[in-house]
Amino acid sequence: VDRLVIAIDGPSGSGKSTTARAVARRLGLSYLDTGAMYRAVAVAFLDAGVRPDDTAAVIAATSGAVIELSLDPDESWVRVNGRDVTEQIREPRTAQNVSAVSTIPECRADLVRRQRALMDADPRGCVAEGRDITTVVYPDADVRVLLTASPEARLRRRAGDMAGKLTEEQLRDQVLRRDRDDSKLVEFQTAAEGVHLLDTSDMTPAEVVDAITSLAEEAH
Ligand code: C5P
Repeated sequence: VDRLVIAIDGPSGSGKSTTARAVARRLGLSYLDTGAMYRAVAVAFLDAGVRPDDTAAVIAATSGAVIELSLDPDESWVRVNGRDVTEQIREPRTAQNVSAVSTIPECRADLVRRQRALMDADPRGCVAEGRDITTVVYPDADVRVLLTASPEARLRRRAGDMAGKLTEEQLRDQVLRRDRDDSKLVEFQTAAEGVHLLDTSDMTPAEVVDAITSLAEEAH
């Protein structure tokens, strides 16, 4: 069989991580969480004492960062410069500083190049998720999907993910402010040509996985 590459984009809380992981598991493909790479770089520059507005230093920290992460949908770990940062990348401080990386074109170009290499590593193929996978990282993917959901649905899901660890204000900051920041760098609210738009507000996780699996079957 040919390789199968599935690209999934969407805002935070659209369910893309859960969905992408489940699709990869079902189809026997590897799984790439590109957001985890941006987050890992944020941890690396903060640990190095670099200030987020020091663009040159953030670029240097990015190009110097050795990022390793699980491509197995049944495992979840991330290392940067040899240190396990699986937990740290999910902390509010990391989320607050990640746009210092993702708004710098040089940093994006660096990470995009690494993401393509990781997506090409598995001969069976890959499910990758992020903000710009369908448009920039892998526009030739066999299946390209943009997941959307209403702000209410996304706040509800993120609250569930974080299981009471965030205040209402931190939650709004993580979901809504990050949407605003991210929409300045990549268009992820409207689907590019050839990208399937899937509004998941009223869908169960299983229904979303079924929908994407069907698209993959049609594409093959
Ligand atoms: O997907 P996740 O919420 O973990 O992404 C964290 C941040 O990384 C996003 O808010 C965005 O700034 C950045 N990102 C990006 N492009 C991607 C994936 C993530 O700019 N493909």
